[in-house]
Amino acid sequence: MNSDKIKIAVLVSGGGTNLQALIDAQRDGGLRSGEIALVVSSNPGAYAINRAANAGIEAVTVCRKEMGDQFEAQLIRTLEKHQIEMIILAGFMSILSADFISHFTDRIINIHPSLIPSFCGKGMYGLHVHEAALAYGVKVSGATAHYVNEVTDGGKIILQKAVRVRQDDTPESLQKRIMKQAEWDILPRAAEQVAKKLRKEKRGGSRPATE
Ligand code: GAR
Repeated sequence: MNSDKIKIAVLVSGGGTNLQALIDAQRDGGLRSGEIALVVSSNPGAYAINRAANAGIEAVTVCRKEMGDQFEAQLIRTLEKHQIEMIILAGFMSILSADFISHFTDRIINIHPSLIPSFCGKGMYGLHVHEAALAYGVKVSGATAHYVNEVTDGGKIILQKAVRVRQDDTPESLQKRIMKQAEWDILPRAAEQVAKKLRKEKRGGSRPATE
């Protein structure tokens, strides 16, 4: 293991299929400028925790319900304890405050299951996004990997991928297809792109790159 790699925490709340895509990319060499050092779940029952365990990655739970107004402070303590340099929100169902984000400016990325700026912002998460897309009647949807800033789903876009909507789609079928065709593809690629940039900055841009 190269200690110069960017230490990444993946924040999750549910099934963790995007976490799995990141783990697979790390195994296959797609994600090589950073290493997933920690998985943090906001939900003690999240299946994502099993995925971390199966991959031999440390996982901790910081439960929003239990921690109340101490949630973000506990999150920051946990991330700092592990010397985390980059955060990936992969199906993380809590909106983080501007104060939290300021601790990790330009170091947090998120995967969102639509083509931002459509079907995003407050209340637009999980199946709700696909319900809204179908209700609107769009013929194309997709996924967006973006930086996280203080505006919900408003940070700079890193990668997007479009997916065709079918006439007989349900929110569930559209969600699955967008995950498979778009999210699991662009999230690891965006993660590598950002980790590579952070690693270069860490090296001061002067030393020759080594893997
Ligand atoms: C994914 O579709 C992700 O894009 C979405 O939740 C799902 C989590 O699935 N995230 C959001 O809606 C955030 N606004 P996963 O736990 O299997 O990765």
